[in-house]
Amino acid sequence: MAQEDIFKKLVAHCKEYGFVFQSSEIYDGLSAVYDYAQMGVELKNNIKKYWWDSMVLLHENVVGIDSAIFMHPTTWKASGHVDAFSDPLIDNKDSKKRYRADVLIEDCIAKYDTKIEKEVKKAEKKFGDSFDKTQFMETNPRVLSNLKKKKELNDRFVKALEDNDLDELKQIIIDNGIACPVSGTKNWTDVRQFNLMFSTEMGSTAEGSSKIYLRPETAQGIFVNYLNVQKTGRMKLPFGIAQIGKAFRNEIVARQFIFRMREFEQMEMQFFVRPGDEIKWFDKWKETRMSWHKALGFSDDKYRFHDHEKLAHYANAATDIEFKFPFGFKEVEGIHSRTDFDLTKHQEFSGKKIQYFDPELNKNYTPYVVETSIGVDRMFLQIISEAYCEETIKKDDGKEDKRVVLKLPAALAPVKLAVLPLVKKDGLPEKAREIIDELKFDFNCQYDEKDSIGKRYRRQDAIGTPFCITIDHDSLDDNKVTIRYRDTMKQERVNISDLYDILKEEVALKTLFKKLK
Ligand code: GAP
Repeated sequence: MAQEDIFKKLVAHCKEYGFVFQSSEIYDGLSAVYDYAQMGVELKNNIKKYWWDSMVLLHENVVGIDSAIFMHPTTWKASGHVDAFSDPLIDNKDSKKRYRADVLIEDCIAKYDTKIEKEVKKAEKKFGDSFDKTQFMETNPRVLSNLKKKKELNDRFVKALEDNDLDELKQIIIDNGIACPVSGTKNWTDVRQFNLMFSTEMGSTAEGSSKIYLRPETAQGIFVNYLNVQKTGRMKLPFGIAQIGKAFRNEIVARQFIFRMREFEQMEMQFFVRPGDEIKWFDKWKETRMSWHKALGFSDDKYRFHDHEKLAHYANAATDIEFKFPFGFKEVEGIHSRTDFDLTKHQEFSGKKIQYFDPELNKNYTPYVVETSIGVDRMFLQIISEAYCEETIKKDDGKEDKRVVLKLPAALAPVKLAVLPLVKKDGLPEKAREIIDELKFDFNCQYDEKDSIGKRYRRQDAIGTPFCITIDHDSLDDNKVTIRYRDTMKQERVNISDLYDILKEEVALKTLFKKLK
């Protein structure tokens, strides 16, 4: 099945099984804004806990905060967001559709990769086992020509961005014959910058009110609290401050479901270090964060680093962790060495001294910062798209059946255990309730007595429940139940008294933490 079709099915599945709803759906929705439903919120909370504990619980020099969404407006002047947090936009005059000029060009660059991939696939088919990909890439004239064109376009694009040359961005679009995907025409307006911050008024009277912003990143809440945390927590460098919270951006190209939203959630950590040590810590956090991703058990070839060639003026190293979504490799997390830019700017704009006294060096300085920044919603999309499987299975009568199963990492699954009495009578529901009452303090359990056992298993597969147990008449006498494992569908008889240990072993976040490097 084409990746696009799988993605459509996944979006429908998220709605049907209570993971993600379009915001204000009864009013036909609000573009690029989504609500997490009864299953979605559990998965999302588990992702956040996995991140939070891996930062705050497992690193004794990382502490957490929860700063307000509204911040003093000067914060955003100091951080550069008022002047420079913008996207270059272009409109098509015929379709009246608006696009990000950089995205149009990036898509055009990506087409060269698609052409190269096609050549490789063709050659692979033709030469079979004797195919040498490296040699082919280095010698095939069509591949070489596409690589050359890609490099020329990329270099021109990077230079235009570096020079902030909006006329040149438009010229690149024209020279490469990029057409509007809706109208098919090349009738473009000029490119202009558009600030992505949402603003509102604080205060009740016209004279007394001031323009404030909905934060476009959580990081600034950490920077402005650096001194408070360092002093009250008596923190010694190097140390980190972690935070999870909502961020808002007036995204123009909002697409691919919850991948790019206008209201989203970030998990950010700023790690404060001695100047000169930042690249060592940048490399360390790169490795730590990649290990956090890989501990989820998805295959390694789904991840890659994308080191930034063009660095922001305040950064001296930056990379993205990219994941292979059904629509291609895309950024999930950014790791940036931001030098002392933010703290210095806040010092300048606030007039307050933001420095650290290093007792070992016996001197004051502004700490450098390494940031790790990941979107909760992108992480959610990554996990659910990787977990979504359609399988053909053999039923007991030998006939084929289909099942949709979410092979979620057990520690993140919304429901850990479904308790299913075989029939609704003879004391089986009461026995089931007894088991739930015992386990509900540690695990999210669900009780279900409706429909056949087969149908109930399918419902649990669809929400990713790792374990189902069935209570039958024998359970009343021997205190045993049948446990069924989601991925293998294997069933076995176990003692009710062993259930806690079986579950704990598999569904505790500790199982993931033990895999971290
Ligand atoms: N403080 C640094 C910062 O905000 P960013 O690369 O703009 O850096 C970090 O954002 C992460 O936040 C991204 O890697 C992505 O996972 C998430 N993110 C950014 N914009 C988003 C959006 N519109 N919708 C969903 N997630 C978003």
